Amino acid sequence: MSSSTAITNIATLVTNDPSLGDNSPLGLIQDAALVIDGERVVWAGESSKAPATDNHLDAGGKAVLPGFVDSHSHLVFAGDRTAEFNARMSGRAYSAGGIRTTVAATRAASDAELEANLARHLAEALRQGTTTMETKSGYGLTVEDESRALRLAAAHTDEVTYLGAHIVAPELAEDPAAYVALVTGEMLDACAPHARWIDVFCEKGAFGADQARAILTAGRAKGLHPRVHANQLSYGPGVQLAVELDAASADHCTHLTDADVDALAGGNTVATLLPGAEFSTRAEWPDARRLLDAGVTVALSTDCNPGSSYTSSVPFCVALAVRDMGMTPDEAVWAATAGGAAALRRTDVGRLGPGARADLVLLDAPSHVHLAYRPGVPLVGEVWRSGVRVA
Ligand code: NIG
Ligand code: FE
Repeated sequence: MSSSTAITNIATLVTNDPSLGDNSPLGLIQDAALVIDGERVVWAGESSKAPATDNHLDAGGKAVLPGFVDSHSHLVFAGDRTAEFNARMSGRAYSAGGIRTTVAATRAASDAELEANLARHLAEALRQGTTTMETKSGYGLTVEDESRALRLAAAHTDEVTYLGAHIVAPELAEDPAAYVALVTGEMLDACAPHARWIDVFCEKGAFGADQARAILTAGRAKGLHPRVHANQLSYGPGVQLAVELDAASADHCTHLTDADVDALAGGNTVATLLPGAEFSTRAEWPDARRLLDAGVTVALSTDCNPGSSYTSSVPFCVALAVRDMGMTPDEAVWAATAGGAAALRRTDVGRLGPGARADLVLLDAPSHVHLAYRPGVPLVGEVWRSGVRVA
């Protein structure tokens, strides 16, 4: 039998439900209480109006917000790419070529090694407030290695993405058509049972529009829903293709034409921005302001991977987005919670209204704005998932 708990004395509660709070997108409530019953939130409002409950916890004037929803990461890998990072910070450019280094290390790793690495990174993210985390394959690129990556990932998260189309497998580099046939054929058959999503790195040096369309369409026929790595390194067709196929998300969106922005504004595809990648590759920032002003739904995620963005910290991404991408602190916190949920087409997470899963973060600060105001400071005090304190 479940029992109810009231968390009271919350200085600022972020509900992401405008009607519960101040009518802003964050649905802010000052001097608030939150009531949890079992795995779910059952009530949110002003402390003075809180209903009677079995248990009571005094938040001591902290801010409470929904657990972060990180809708883009690549956590099934072995090895790291310290040398590549060092070289890049000494002036060498980033290219998709480094992915091969991780493919070689991942293929050589045992299941136990891969799973330990995955679990370690998920735990690291959880300690920083991430309660829902998507993760992808993409460092195997054989039928066996891709399907094992997804099988391992599915043991740890519901949000699993098949990214056989990360780059053309090195052994088929001279025959990309054969690799696309594999990704849409035998590899898809082996991977689809373990995944919810299919993703393609649609970029020069990876896959073009026609290849990406064929791959995403084949995935959809097997019950996988599309998402796209789009317009990261240069202008290209990825964003338009994502909207055309009603992908849940177009990820990166660093190089956008006005037509790309219009397409996103007119469709149901979220623009997921990944500032850890621009930080770690010293690239130009995506222009969040331009997207928000056009009415596009924006999510913020880490892209945690050993090559282009080796951070699992959503708070770090929030701070970067506010400092360098034109987002207000409120917009960045929304994008890292409700935005991530939208990018995963989820309505049970990323908010703290009645019926939501009780996934939440207690900050060692009175307001969510401190996530950007105090960059680099470990402000995540407690993390709860499904009504249970987990960090
Ligand atoms: O999202 N863009 C492609 N994939 C990753 C990079 C992966 C890597 O460099 O290993 C990304 O940035
Ligand atoms: Fe990525």
